[in-house]
Amino acid sequence: MLILNKTTGVFSNLSKGKIYEFLRSFNIHPGKLFLHKLVLGIETSCDDTAAAVVDETGNVLGEAIHSQTEVHLKTGGIIPPVAQQLHRENIQRIVQEALSASKVSPSELSAIATTIKPGLALSLGVGLSFSLQLVDQLKKPFIPIHHMEAHALTIRLTNKVEFPFLVLLISGGHCLLALVRGVSDFLLLGKSLDIAPGDMLDKVARRLSLIKHPECSTMSGGKAIEHLAKQGNKLHFDFKPPMQRAKNCDFSFSGLQHVIDKMIMQKEKEEGIEKGQILSSAADIAASVQHTVACHIAKRTHRAILFCKQRNLLCQSNAVLVVSGGVASNLYIRKALEVVTNAAQCTFLCPPPRLCTDNGIMIAWNGVERLRAGLGILYNPEGIRYEPKCPLGIDISKEVGEAAIKVPRLKMKT
Ligand code: KG4
Ligand code: ZN
Repeated sequence: MLILNKTTGVFSNLSKGKIYEFLRSFNIHPGKLFLHKLVLGIETSCDDTAAAVVDETGNVLGEAIHSQTEVHLKTGGIIPPVAQQLHRENIQRIVQEALSASKVSPSELSAIATTIKPGLALSLGVGLSFSLQLVDQLKKPFIPIHHMEAHALTIRLTNKVEFPFLVLLISGGHCLLALVRGVSDFLLLGKSLDIAPGDMLDKVARRLSLIKHPECSTMSGGKAIEHLAKQGNKLHFDFKPPMQRAKNCDFSFSGLQHVIDKMIMQKEKEEGIEKGQILSSAADIAASVQHTVACHIAKRTHRAILFCKQRNLLCQSNAVLVVSGGVASNLYIRKALEVVTNAAQCTFLCPPPRLCTDNGIMIAWNGVERLRAGLGILYNPEGIRYEPKCPLGIDISKEVGEAAIKVPRLKMKT
């Protein structure tokens, strides 16, 4: 085996990136050769048990994930004790798989990073207690991770993005707009006042019984809506985007969900079918819902960009909007956001879909970011607790609302 050490001087004049590039050209796994910073990330905040090993340059050395989506689809939503039990059954195997795939021995790890906030208490508890045992056994530092911060910084693993940048996080549990000024320095510009868009899409998909639709039976609600929307007419139903008069960057989805519920009930009556059967207009409803959600999200995001530009909060030569979270894998919503970023002269960036949904890589990467910045590394994690509810950064949403920025109308050519 090729062994490199500093005394050989073989690569002494090359940068680390160049060395990795060179080794990769021979298909040699650099993880075994350079034991710099290697972080094991563990994620159990909601319904995915995930783990990954990532090195300090962003190479993913190994990953594994167990998704509970199918189980929760059958029960019509996440039942926390069920999620907890599934995490318990899978966590050891998933961490083992990620480590084996990485060919890194646990003793070579620099730290273990685990999501401890926000999320479902019972789910967070499984990841935290497993991690604390591991940390104790291996005598490694522990890095507690904020799930939303991890989503926000994932883009720095795939793209060269400097601080500050604007981030829109849209998932099943969250909807927020924040300015990212540093690894753990966030300004919250707006958030959902009620439910998150993914939660709403899941509820609509359930109400439309899309689980019984042959093409959508294994898909999450949001994915099923996106899939069906391709076959529908978005202008068939005229759902109004919420909060059109409020000139802030907050969001709301539950009012819209009730309007859609009523519409579905009316259509069931018209078509003479029972609740639980699939409407002939399901695709049109899906397309109209997706369009309305996309317009609402795009408008609030447009205002956030204008606010940041007005206050000079973004890089003047290259303002960047990053979009992440499970709902960000929706291509229709992405296109609507691209219309906004084109109009506002802003660069639009989005991690690949598999990194938009919950995964262990983003947690490990957040651990790397924290390790590099020397932030939040615990050598004695005694007394650490999970936090089911936890805000993101400093909330300046009131100030954003007071600025009352008018957003120009854009034609959504999606
Ligand atoms: O980030 P994520 O994996 O988990 C958290 O909520 O933290 O996001 C899951 C959410 C679910 O509500 C799911 O319906 C939604 O993301 N989702 C989508 C799509 N794929 C997943 N929503 C819209 N379009 C999609 N293609
Ligand atoms: Zn998430």
